[in-house]
Amino acid sequence: MNTPVLSADPWRQNFHIAALRGLVNDPNGLIHWRGETHVFYQLNPDGCTHRNKAWGHVASADLVHWRRLPVAISPVDAYDRNGCYSGSAVQDGDQMVLIYTGNLRGPDGARQTYQCLARSADGVVFDKLGPVISGPPPGHTAHVRDPKVWGQPGRWHMVLGAQTTAQQGTVLLLQSPDLRDWQLIGPILQAGAHGYMCECPDLFTLEGTDVLLFSEQRAAAGDRPATNIAGWVAGAIDLERAVFAHGPFRRLDHGRDFYAPQSFAHADGRRIMLGWMGLPEQDSAPTVAQGWFHCLTVPRELQMIGGRLCQQPIRELAGLRGPLTRIDRPGAGALPVNGDSYELELHDISAPLTLALRTGADGHTAVTLDAGHIRLASIGADGSRSDLGTAALLPGMGRRLRILMDRSSIEVFVDAGEITLSARIYPGGGSDGIAILSPAPQIGALNFWPMGSMWQDDGHAIPPSATVEGPGIAGTEEKA
Ligand code: FRU
Repeated sequence: MNTPVLSADPWRQNFHIAALRGLVNDPNGLIHWRGETHVFYQLNPDGCTHRNKAWGHVASADLVHWRRLPVAISPVDAYDRNGCYSGSAVQDGDQMVLIYTGNLRGPDGARQTYQCLARSADGVVFDKLGPVISGPPPGHTAHVRDPKVWGQPGRWHMVLGAQTTAQQGTVLLLQSPDLRDWQLIGPILQAGAHGYMCECPDLFTLEGTDVLLFSEQRAAAGDRPATNIAGWVAGAIDLERAVFAHGPFRRLDHGRDFYAPQSFAHADGRRIMLGWMGLPEQDSAPTVAQGWFHCLTVPRELQMIGGRLCQQPIRELAGLRGPLTRIDRPGAGALPVNGDSYELELHDISAPLTLALRTGADGHTAVTLDAGHIRLASIGADGSRSDLGTAALLPGMGRRLRILMDRSSIEVFVDAGEITLSARIYPGGGSDGIAILSPAPQIGALNFWPMGSMWQDDGHAIPPSATVEGPGIAGTEEKA
């Protein structure tokens, strides 16, 4: 069998979901079903542009080792020709049902959107059932998308991203007895406060608090460019009346590359979230020359601690760890560990601290803690600095760092995960050194584990046929 191995690609990820070929964006349809976790994702299997959106599909029984499955749905029907856009999955009786947005463009470019169903008896092969909601409700534009559904037969709820005719973002709450007849209950976010569109809403209860995740699209204003920000609000919702008393919108992640997260409830009660480690405004990256673009974050367990939404890599990721190297009270300079795929944990830190990761001929990635901030940056060989994210720290924060380094990404978790920073990085080949740059570092201990691959089969090999990640498809559409 002639399967070219992509080991020559220094950025191919070891433990993050990415496509073998094509562009990945939002995680979709996250569900724990019949003992397995299924992750779908927006996928253009044909290229590295925002077109031809299908649903890519992977699954895992243990959340450690994953296998690739065929593309679940493709944009080949009259109601989704320009994209099977984002959505969710539920169990309905013994079937898995996907609820997604069918995106359509008329000859004049005018958008139409349908909320559609697809179902499967085996969780692998899906039959499309067509639209169950056609068009927007009165007072809204055709920007209605990304249905997230939860509940059980007889009583289903949906949150749906929407835009009012005044071009203000909001989230709509709907209800249905059977996933087919949907009744609008009302908006649950105040229009005008959340940009011109709210994408990918997700509502759930965590330790007695109702949490709404969503991704704001904000227009350019003055010198400020247009931005896309994923965040959360928390409070108490009345699902019968669509009344949501909630606190302020807070950013979910402070790194450069994070958007459109979605969560699911694991059978054991954990709330687990994955995000897209990318942004809509990015139109290229060094991996495009290798035929793939973007990836998802690792699965993160969400917890509400003291009113703050905290994220930690799921504990199963420890199953990919190699042997531990522990260094007590590490001093300044190069460390006796290295790699391009590892987990690093630092305890009992007192700022200031600067870590240089992926050091090599072309520079390094710097993680810096000072009294009030954590900063992530790419530093060039000439000392040039490119910002990958900054977050303010409250007094007493920044004592513990957990860093997940994959071949082309870094995720940093501060303390209990109150602050996270996610970014893609593209170090040159052989950039695998780790050093402490601060002259007098104060770190209680440092743990280092090399990380192995999440793919059950050889995830770095191109499959021999087109059955995985689907056939070529006709529809075209730019980013929503
Ligand atoms: C968010 C988003 C969604 C849409 C999808 C299209 O990144 O714009 O609103 O469903 O991407 O790929």
